[in-house]
Amino acid sequence: PRPILLTRHGESRDNVRGRIGGDTALSEAGELYAKKLANFVEKRLKFEKTASIWTSTLQRTILTASPIVGFPTIQWRALDEINAGVCDGMSYEEIKRNMPEEYESRKKDKLRYRYPRGESYLDVIQRLEPVIIELERQRAPVVVISHQAVLRALYAYFADKPLIEIPHIEVPLHTIIEIQMGVTGVQEKRQSNLR
Ligand code: G3H
Repeated sequence: PRPILLTRHGESRDNVRGRIGGDTALSEAGELYAKKLANFVEKRLKFEKTASIWTSTLQRTILTASPIVGFPTIQWRALDEINAGVCDGMSYEEIKRNMPEEYESRKKDKLRYRYPRGESYLDVIQRLEPVIIELERQRAPVVVISHQAVLRALYAYFADKPLIEIPHIEVPLHTIIEIQMGVTGVQEKRQSNLR
């Protein structure tokens, strides 16, 4: 069995302000998580010479990976957060106030709802296909540092969750989801109190 470690980026400045999308750097708490994650990964994958770190192309995941020493880092555009289109940079409160119809349609069908000039969860699931193929092909451990919507979709693939549940799966900040791919199936472990 080899592990796949899934984690969101450390808390970003936009997370603190309650804004979706964007490309901000990490908050202080986010930077602290990046350090703890590095410590965890370096220990957990100590003798795994061929392991690699995969991030999105957004600052917050690259900065979260940056303290990790000793493994190659690969950036994937396919790991970028769901594109919120015209709502990028807004808070949910602002969307509700300024674009109530959009807010309601998303609430009704979060899986299929596509942000104007942006993406739906179904779009995200589709663009993840090459990432999943590559993850399946890898024999070595991979640490995936990405975003909530993307990790919901990746997690659902490995944990065999139905499509309809994907937009509602819990993927909290500052938590590592370790997936073990073995011959007998998939096992999972979550860790959130890193030291
Ligand atoms: O910024 C986007 C969020 O990570 C996705 O969350 O799909 O629950 O709005 P949501």
